[in-house]
Amino acid sequence: MRRRTAAGESSVATLEAARDPSVVCDNLARTYGTGATAVVAVYGVSCAVQSGSRIALTGPSGSGKSTLLHLMAGLEAPTSGTITWPALDGHPQGHPGRVGVVFQGPSLLPALDVAENVALPLLLADVAEGEAAARSGDALHRLGIDDLADKLPEQLSGGQAQRVAVARVLASRPRLILADEPTGQLDHQAAHLVIDVLLQAGAELGASLVVSTHDPVIADRLDLQWTMRDGRIDLPPTTGTST
Ligand SMILES: Nc1ncnc2c1ncn2[C@@H]1O[C@H](COP(=O)(O)OP(=O)(O)O)[C@@H](O)[C@H]1O
Ligand SMILES: [Mg+2]
Repeated sequence: MRRRTAAGESSVATLEAARDPSVVCDNLARTYGTGATAVVAVYGVSCAVQSGSRIALTGPSGSGKSTLLHLMAGLEAPTSGTITWPALDGHPQGHPGRVGVVFQGPSLLPALDVAENVALPLLLADVAEGEAAARSGDALHRLGIDDLADKLPEQLSGGQAQRVAVARVLASRPRLILADEPTGQLDHQAAHLVIDVLLQAGAELGASLVVSTHDPVIADRLDLQWTMRDGRIDLPPTTGTST
């Protein structure tokens, strides 16, 4: 297994760390529903994802990992508190630019083949067709799944679909990568390949990386570990907003 800290990667991480944070959460909360049936999914979370940092988000099922990642992606609005993206356009409470999300569940469009699924976000962002196809092909190659390019999502295993979803995010060259249990359906070797690719792409793009996982071996591949419990986050002492 390849380890994480090639010299080039750490120097990129050091440079990026001097810049504005990718995400800053201040007393962030998200509640689903109201009244007696309300579920508090995220509560009192204050944290900063520094540019170029690589964070594992761990915690039991139901502890709020997916909700926090969706808030960080700007896909959900907080019930209270604030979230900003200083290094990604920084619109206060607005939609952050250049975020790539690997969703926990199925997210491929069933009518498009794998190569088209990976290229679609690029086409929607006005990338020329030829370049979108080339970037799609390159991303599939990095994930070791070139041979799936012509397949439809229904022809894929869960693990193959998960790797396609990672390729789709990489092809769009985000500055913040949020991956929600991206190795959950993969065997040991494929899981480490996905983490290798995410770490390498993060270093090349200067992107911050937040990866939720149940697997302590996977969590150990990232530089920092944040643990969620009942919607709250336990941060190591040096990674709060004060740093
Ligand atoms: N859309 C939703 N509607 C209602 N409850 C939700 C929704 N999404 C998540 N929850 C609840 O919020 C809590 C946190 O869920 P989630 O963020 O998915 O945790 P995790 O990803 O750690 O498993 C759970 O109790 C879950 O049932
Ligand atoms: Mg989840």
